[in-house]
Amino acid sequence: MTTKELRQKYLSFFESKGHTIVPGASLIPENDPTVLFTTAGMHPLVPYLLGEKHASGNRLVNVQKCIRTGDIDEVGDGWHLTFFEMLGNWSLGDYFKKEAIEFSFEFLTKELNIPLDKLAFTCFQGEEENGIPKDEQAYGIWESLGVSPLRIKYLGREDNWWGPAGQTGPCGPDTEMFYWSSDESAPEEFDPKDKRWVEIWNDVFMQYNKSLDGKYEPLKQQNVDTGMGLERTVGVLNGKSSVYEVEPLATIMRQVASLADLDLEFIEPEQVKPLRTITDHIRASVFILAENVAPSNVEQGYVLRRLIRRAIRYGKQLGIKEAFTHKVAEIVIAEMGGYYPELRKNRDFIMEQLAQEEEKFDKTLENGLKKFEKVASDGKVSGEEAFVLFSTYGFPLEITKDLAQEKKIEIDEEGFNKEFAKHQEISRKGAEQKFKGGLADNSEVTARMHTATHLMLSALRKVLGDHVFQKGANITSERIRFDFSHPDKMTPDQIQQVEDLVNSQIRKAIPVVMEELTLDEAKDRGAMGVFEHKYGDKVKVYTIGEESATGGSAFSREICGGPHASNTSELGHFKIQKEESSSAGVRRIKAILE
Ligand code: ALA
Repeated sequence: MTTKELRQKYLSFFESKGHTIVPGASLIPENDPTVLFTTAGMHPLVPYLLGEKHASGNRLVNVQKCIRTGDIDEVGDGWHLTFFEMLGNWSLGDYFKKEAIEFSFEFLTKELNIPLDKLAFTCFQGEEENGIPKDEQAYGIWESLGVSPLRIKYLGREDNWWGPAGQTGPCGPDTEMFYWSSDESAPEEFDPKDKRWVEIWNDVFMQYNKSLDGKYEPLKQQNVDTGMGLERTVGVLNGKSSVYEVEPLATIMRQVASLADLDLEFIEPEQVKPLRTITDHIRASVFILAENVAPSNVEQGYVLRRLIRRAIRYGKQLGIKEAFTHKVAEIVIAEMGGYYPELRKNRDFIMEQLAQEEEKFDKTLENGLKKFEKVASDGKVSGEEAFVLFSTYGFPLEITKDLAQEKKIEIDEEGFNKEFAKHQEISRKGAEQKFKGGLADNSEVTARMHTATHLMLSALRKVLGDHVFQKGANITSERIRFDFSHPDKMTPDQIQQVEDLVNSQIRKAIPVVMEELTLDEAKDRGAMGVFEHKYGDKVKVYTIGEESATGGSAFSREICGGPHASNTSELGHFKIQKEESSSAGVRRIKAILE
């Protein structure tokens, strides 16, 4: 079974069970300032878990690209990755535990033909203090399907709860499925601590909303959110001992090995982690770069920088002399660009950025390594020393940690974090780790910003011309950041015209109308938006301003997931704060509503 086959099998199976195949979302969450990356399939679907209607119905299935740096220390162990693909089926207020578990059981035992003897399960043990019962229901459903009670264990929040940590948002108990990965026969009784049982799938029963005061209230609707790690599952099913033996990772890692003049048949144990980490990190970097994010010291760009630099340092350790990251990227694009066309489309940007970052880091790497030797000579690395390595030599903390680990010396991570916070180099580091699938900022304020963004795009096209297309958007409750295609700097007069046009639409108090249309209908009616979706039947189209009787078109019509204000009058006053270059041929606007 290949990753391609498993993807297809999964989508087809759930399609046959009444699910609509929908496209995965971008790796960069569009409307959610609480998180840097999409960390799970549920993330882009939060509004629909909370009750908003999805244009494709209430049974969905998809493949979602995810980035998780929370597990970055575990990368190299065989099964953890920073970038991975998650297969998921969704019930948005439709079916619940019984069907979800029955679907999972049928898929595992009939479609994947896994003998029951190789499977084990966990269910939530309950939390009296929060009024959440032991999930005897899920337990009973597994049992009714023929699973031995010896193979079902109850575990706590750490293992069998999914949802926001310390934040608000949809959450619930889950049931996890484990595969016996060893050649030895599986023990009759399941021991969740035995690493030979590898988790492959998770069915979350999203039925609570964690409120601001930490209470768990029932959600408006009961949802199912499931996640199956694509490469991990293919790996265990094929009897592999790591995801790096699964395509396309195996091919990518072969390229890394050949650049280091190594033969994968004959590698030393200490070369395993560097080889795997480079493979994982460069692949993740390629996917982030494909979203038009460049390495920097803030937000997503900083995560990207950490991944690239860590890979480069490991490359040096393996004895790679020349710039190599772009050569690994070539293979990632060749292997994965078929399913993910954005890799091919942004190939030049990806290559350019990798080359630049490698050149930049190369200049300080040698000196940084010398500096490390010096500070480590007393057998420890203080927080301040780690911070100097970061700020002066460009060593992200992971690199210093790797070096300390190799030398088996102590590093004051907490001290580094304090220094880091003090210098406020970046304010949002770790935002992603804090988020484990919780709340999207779905507030009314963000909805207004979203509506203003539609008005602005239309205004830009009217003022600058039809070559203007959206190239990216990041909307928070504070501001709009919007990238669009346009070759020149906007003049103050053009900026004024755009502001005036938007504000006049706001003053007219126009209703914002949502319709669910097929892609073709949307296209026919002149809607702007992304038409590249591979799957997905119906889309939501938001229209602002009526067509006139004489054939004039609506002021704005866009395909968009929402949410939006219901009337432009809610928007207040629109103001462009900044207009600057984003990349070649792309301008960036920062705008606010006052
Ligand atoms: N949201 C669940 C997970 O990521 C399915 O494991």
